[in-house]
Amino acid sequence: MSELSVQHLLGIKYLKPADIQLIFETADHFKEVINRSIKKVPSLRDITIANIFFENSTRTRLSFELAQKRLSADVINFSAAQSSVKKGETLIDTVNNILSMKVDMVVMRHPNPGAGIFLSKHIKASIVNAGDGAHEHPTQALLDSFSIRERLGEVGGKKVVIVGDILHSRVALSNIYALQMQGAEVAVCGPKTLIPKHIESLGVRVELDLEKALAWCDVANMLRVQNERMDMSYFPNTREYTMLYGLNKERLDRLDKEIVIMHPGPINRGVEITSDVADSPHSIILNQVENGVAIRMAVIYLLASKIK
Ligand code: CP
Repeated sequence: MSELSVQHLLGIKYLKPADIQLIFETADHFKEVINRSIKKVPSLRDITIANIFFENSTRTRLSFELAQKRLSADVINFSAAQSSVKKGETLIDTVNNILSMKVDMVVMRHPNPGAGIFLSKHIKASIVNAGDGAHEHPTQALLDSFSIRERLGEVGGKKVVIVGDILHSRVALSNIYALQMQGAEVAVCGPKTLIPKHIESLGVRVELDLEKALAWCDVANMLRVQNERMDMSYFPNTREYTMLYGLNKERLDRLDKEIVIMHPGPINRGVEITSDVADSPHSIILNQVENGVAIRMAVIYLLASKIK
């Protein structure tokens, strides 16, 4: 396969296993490029990309912008907080105004699930979902799997537990789809209140006991509790959450094996993970961030090649 089966990257759900394979092979090449002394290629000199962010971001926004600049694309950045959205302008009007400036691709983060899908039906540009509410965060899942492949050689056959606030997590859903598409086994672990009802129907195991989940897995992907998406209390207090679901060195030392530790960021140090674990050799958290640039270069490059 030499091109993606999709025109937009709206979610992992819409990809085929061969798409993921192609993105990884392309990212392998770009990872080599970004480690050269000259980190830039002229591939997308004729492409203009708008990054439009209606929600806060550090890693995703910077990583997309860097990926676009490494590919020599022209880039404009839009942040809703400083825009006319604050004066009541709609999403479609906002994006159509940006597209009038001859933009070819839109990378969008939005608090509403399905915002990217909605946009793709109303505008002509290629859309990349950089996180839509609690729905999907496809490039995060791609860089997570790419990082597992890099550390363990392959994703197929590996056991991955996603720990924490599964209910409010777009990272969890995209990871479940991506990992299963590559033949990994997936479990989720957290307080019952933060595990979506019927999640077993996606073919994942549910484990409420962190120690049992750690004993089962090869990889633990620790998630942040997303207080900003919570409209009520899901557990008594942070101290109890950390006692039951926080990853610390004592818990790792009790295992008779080494596991790979991941986190999409931002980390709440001392809550879902202690600093000695986050900064340990078992942690690939910063490798995930580095791989994010190569993965986003690959996604943008492959989608741009489909623009007529
Ligand atoms: N992982 C992630 O999406 O981080 P940001 O919210 O900082 O982009």
